[in-house]
Amino acid sequence: MPRRGLVVGNWKMNGSIAFVQALTQAVGRGVAERERDRPLPCDVVLCPPFTGLSVAGQSLTGSTVRLGGQNSSEAVSGPFTGEISGSMLRDVGCSHVILGHSERRTLFGEGDAGIARKMVAAFREGLVPIVCLGETLSERTAGHTLDVIRTQWLALCPALPEEEEKRSHWVLAYEPVWAIGTGRHATPEQIQAVHGFIRQQLNDHLGATIASRIQILYGGSVTPDNALAIFSQRDVDGGLIGGASLKADTFLAIIDAYLEKF
Ligand code: PGA
Repeated sequence: MPRRGLVVGNWKMNGSIAFVQALTQAVGRGVAERERDRPLPCDVVLCPPFTGLSVAGQSLTGSTVRLGGQNSSEAVSGPFTGEISGSMLRDVGCSHVILGHSERRTLFGEGDAGIARKMVAAFREGLVPIVCLGETLSERTAGHTLDVIRTQWLALCPALPEEEEKRSHWVLAYEPVWAIGTGRHATPEQIQAVHGFIRQQLNDHLGATIASRIQILYGGSVTPDNALAIFSQRDVDGGLIGGASLKADTFLAIIDAYLEKF
């Protein structure tokens, strides 16, 4: 049976309440139209900024489109000014949370160990962590891509829950740093090479059954024009979409590209 796919919109720090409401409604309508023909082979998750989560949740009442946070704290509650906990995200209706995005890593100093602690907290709160991995341009040029991915991945392993059935309830997103927001996406061959490597790592460390269930997304300058070629790769289970998720028609066209995979 093919793995269920996942297409995620990462809106980053964009959007007033009115913008969030209009865009969520438009995506919700578009997804509902497509579901009239057949159930979608993928889930759709929108990650507006924190201030938009509540209105986005209201706009998605009755929709299969789900909500995610763009980050969350490793702590439960307390004196952590500016932080948002996993239980707060659950409270506002989130099912997913993006962790370890390269903007968090490079601009806000997040490292592998801290990302693993956030992942533990997300599992504890019943959120599905979408954890980002990826190399910089200089790391790729130096031929270190797979070493970087291996190091980032191994740091996450201790954060996985003990319970066998929960170990596949998370998502990996391969996002080469040089492809994010640059208009320069990795080629389908480069993407499959890394996704295949990640799948092999999952297989070696977690076993074949879990490895076959975990979704691996690609992110970095995905557009309606390149989405089909990327999604057609064997180990690509969907996308983490930034800029192109800020307009309903381009985001829905990317979902359509995923539907064409089947
Ligand atoms: P982009 O962003 O699609 O704008 O390149 C992807 C991301 O940052 O997740």
